[in-house]
Amino acid sequence: MSQTNPSKRFAEFFAGIGLVHEALKGSGWDCVYANDIDPKKEAMYKGHFGPSPYFYLEDVWQTEQIVEEIKESVFLATASFPCTDLSLAGNWEGFEGDHSSTYFGFIRVLQSLGGHKPKIVMLENVTGFLTSKGGEDFARAVSALAAEGYWIDCIVLDAKSFVPQSRPRVFVIGFHESLQSERIIRQVKNGWFGDGWQAAIDSADSLRPDSLLRLMAKTELSTGWATLTLHPPKQTKYSLASFIDTDDDQLWWDKAANDKHYAMLSDLHRKEVENRCKAGGLHVGTVYRRCRYNKMRAEVRFDNVAGCLRTPRGGSARQIVMIIDDARVRFRWMSPREYARLQGSPDFTLAKNTTQSLFGFGDGVCVPVIRWLDQNILTPVYEDEMTSTGHIDCAKIQGRNGASSVPKRNVGAIKEAEGLTQQITQRVDATQ
Ligand SMILES: C[S@@+](CC[C@H](N)C(=O)[O-])C[C@H]1O[C@@H](n2cnc3c(N)ncnc32)[C@H](O)[C@@H]1O
Repeated sequence: MSQTNPSKRFAEFFAGIGLVHEALKGSGWDCVYANDIDPKKEAMYKGHFGPSPYFYLEDVWQTEQIVEEIKESVFLATASFPCTDLSLAGNWEGFEGDHSSTYFGFIRVLQSLGGHKPKIVMLENVTGFLTSKGGEDFARAVSALAAEGYWIDCIVLDAKSFVPQSRPRVFVIGFHESLQSERIIRQVKNGWFGDGWQAAIDSADSLRPDSLLRLMAKTELSTGWATLTLHPPKQTKYSLASFIDTDDDQLWWDKAANDKHYAMLSDLHRKEVENRCKAGGLHVGTVYRRCRYNKMRAEVRFDNVAGCLRTPRGGSARQIVMIIDDARVRFRWMSPREYARLQGSPDFTLAKNTTQSLFGFGDGVCVPVIRWLDQNILTPVYEDEMTSTGHIDCAKIQGRNGASSVPKRNVGAIKEAEGLTQQITQRVDATQ
């Protein structure tokens, strides 16, 4: 493990069980502030990292308190804000919903940090973030970040490039306008000369689906878009079978549960299982139960990649393992340790309670994906900044002037979020 540089500090908002921290700690990032509102996540976080006095069980809307608690300026702030309202599970409420609108609680903290804003901000969310309200929520989110002085990049990475789990996620990176790193290529608006930004975007086209590029093109930012020269991650070679325990000691289901799930396979999937039985040998698949045309189905995949891990709300959100071992078909629930492996953190400390662990990992980030972002974006920009400025502002924040301008939480946090998003939308509309 590399040495922790005293100024390579970060704050982790919506920390969950700390998988962002887990990814960053190996390259010397020092977490000086973390928050989450869920005591069970806090327990898992502390169960793994040990006593963590910098972890606060608090609502992100507690702006004044949070600014007091971030005692030293941080180079990086990460925010994996809740995705609930950016998917079917939250009825696509988007930023009108109670959960995902907590993003604006994070923005309010940034505003309140005044001249001590982090140099880099990294957001993470599901791909529904790009489609929520026809892209309006994404535009609101990045415009709010730009209004705080950040140049913005956005990429989509799928965990399956690193581990056998399908988990595409959107990452928004905000580079503060004060950064001097020449590595950051800023978009030239209406420039005479070839736009280096466009060339860098074009040369890494697998990082940004067309839908994202269209969204970026129509979202005018008060700062602008920026990027680095990025080379998409190389596909890691792996076998799902080595992430899944296939021995007899596992909690394989009894005959009744086995038969029930076998009967839930569609004709197509049953045929696939039969063919694999005939072929012999070991086959590892993963299964989700889904309601199709009012019928509960067990949908199996054998493409060497597990389905996206989710929080086990309701009977169909927990992943099932199916193995075919020389024509013998067995099912069982996927275990917390397997969830940990598929999130790229095989040795993470589990909670005693299985559901608690599954919730923690189901909500979390995939560790090697964050490591890739660190190695390719966060640490290089940090190191450039150290070199170009000769130092990093290590000023103690406590007692500085900016803290007194913390806006008060008034009628209610959500109302305020809606007000803020409205202002931002008006600003976006005015620029179009
Ligand atoms: C997507 S998860 C983040 C997971 C985390 N990145 C990890 O890898 O473990 C979002 C987290 O936001 C937390 N959260 C929800 N509302 C919050 C609020 N108002 N203030 C702080 N945290 C909140 C949830 O408890 C949840 O752990």
